[in-house]
Amino acid sequence: MPREIFRIVLVGFMGAGKSTAGPLLAERLGWEFMDADQCLARRTGQTIAELFEGQGEAGFREMEATIIAELHERQEVVLALGGGAIETDSTRRLLSESTGTCVVFLNAPLAVLIERCESQPGAAVRPILQQRETLSERFHSRLQHYERAHVTIDTHGLSPETVADRIMDRL
Ligand code: S3P
Repeated sequence: MPREIFRIVLVGFMGAGKSTAGPLLAERLGWEFMDADQCLARRTGQTIAELFEGQGEAGFREMEATIIAELHERQEVVLALGGGAIETDSTRRLLSESTGTCVVFLNAPLAVLIERCESQPGAAVRPILQQRETLSERFHSRLQHYERAHVTIDTHGLSPETVADRIMDRL
């Protein structure tokens, strides 16, 4: 691990494996794992779906950006962001300008990502997944931001353990 990296931020669309590979990566590094959505849900006492419902997507994005800015202050942490977090300018700026942060993009074809999300028990907790007409558009417009990551891992066909190993190899 190069001494100048003290924080890894996982980005990628829903179903990319941020929350499954993230804890394994943190374990390998002896760092803490944090999931921005889980922290937000714990703090507000509401699920992501309830926050979307109550605040609208714009309100959710503001809360999401605020908690990410806070969590991003930490060191020796693997931080998983929700798939849409990079839609917010301030979060993109935070990731590109901060020292010590290695941004890792977990990628897979959209059809694979959708299939993974649907095979998970909590499929209904992802409001964006229900918006099928705009899903492909969102995926493609986000790619330009995801692709700015320092490291990209193609996760298609890989277990979470292998994804964590591949990230370790690239640090
Ligand atoms: C979203 C992704 C979700 C969550 C929210 C919105 C998105 O996180 O933040 O449902 O806009 O793609 P995951 O990527 O962890 O599923």
